[in-house]
Amino acid sequence: MPRKIIIDTDPGQDDAVAILLALGSPREIDVLGIVAVAGNVQVHQNATNALKILELAGRPDIPVYVGCERPMRHKLFTAEYIHGKTGLDGPDLAEPTIVPRDQHGVDYLIETLRREPTGTVTICALGPLTNLGMAFVKAPDIVPRIQEIVLMGGGLFEGGNVTPAAEFNIYVDPEAADVVFHSGVPITVVPLDVSHMMLTTQPRIERFRSLGNKTGVATAEMLDFFDRFDKAKYGWDGGPLHDPCVIAYLLKPGLFKGRHVNVAIETQSDLTRGMTVVDYWGVTGRVKNTNYLRSGDSDGFYDLLVERLSTLP
Ligand code: BDR
Ligand code: CA
Repeated sequence: MPRKIIIDTDPGQDDAVAILLALGSPREIDVLGIVAVAGNVQVHQNATNALKILELAGRPDIPVYVGCERPMRHKLFTAEYIHGKTGLDGPDLAEPTIVPRDQHGVDYLIETLRREPTGTVTICALGPLTNLGMAFVKAPDIVPRIQEIVLMGGGLFEGGNVTPAAEFNIYVDPEAADVVFHSGVPITVVPLDVSHMMLTTQPRIERFRSLGNKTGVATAEMLDFFDRFDKAKYGWDGGPLHDPCVIAYLLKPGLFKGRHVNVAIETQSDLTRGMTVVDYWGVTGRVKNTNYLRSGDSDGFYDLLVERLSTLP
């Protein structure tokens, strides 16, 4: 039986590739729905981007919901400087003919988790954790019903990417992240420590372009655009491909290594707001709430991506 997931996301070229990886893996993964959150760009644009990706992949049947328009406490900080004005710059994707569903994304999360049997739905969070945090506040009864949360966010050994201390998804809504990390739900974190190993080198991008399908070409065009900022910033051969690691972990956990630790979120300090405080060496005695991934096999990761995206239109 494929594993049921809901993708909470702000696409985002790397979010888009994550969605495509899930859709290219129907034997293992059943995407129940996609919920957009404010993050890389405004939430309605993120929803439009999700719809574009579903049409590209020939899956207009998957419902898309619009979630929260802003973080719990702070003003929304967006990332057009990385993802472009649309959040999905690069390929020339058609305006979607499908539209988001009427129900609010937070209510969709709550209703779905109440309807599906306990412990059978995994949440894949690829953006700020606002929708999940809000859902937990609005309906605490759903918390024990979640099988697992696998999220992209944070960093320890690599530090932050928005500030020296904070990674974008956590930085945008640290209060929501705090709610999630205190929830007691089993959490797996894909931090920058992992995604910084998954570089979109030119030969890897060419593998997508030469797949012979429109998904492969669109993916190459997304990554051509996406990696320019980080290549210049870090001086690496490619940019880190963050969010697809979440889906790759579900498909092939053996590609990654990590350990069970406590992760806490800094919400108070101006200097380090949004920092994931990872007790990697077990010095605090705080309860272990996270499977924290530290490294991954990048060749295996790109082989998986190429294999699964080759099955799409
Ligand atoms: C995260 O921030 C976003 O810009 C990316 O899509 C990814 O989810 C990386 O810090
Ligand atoms: Ca994202």
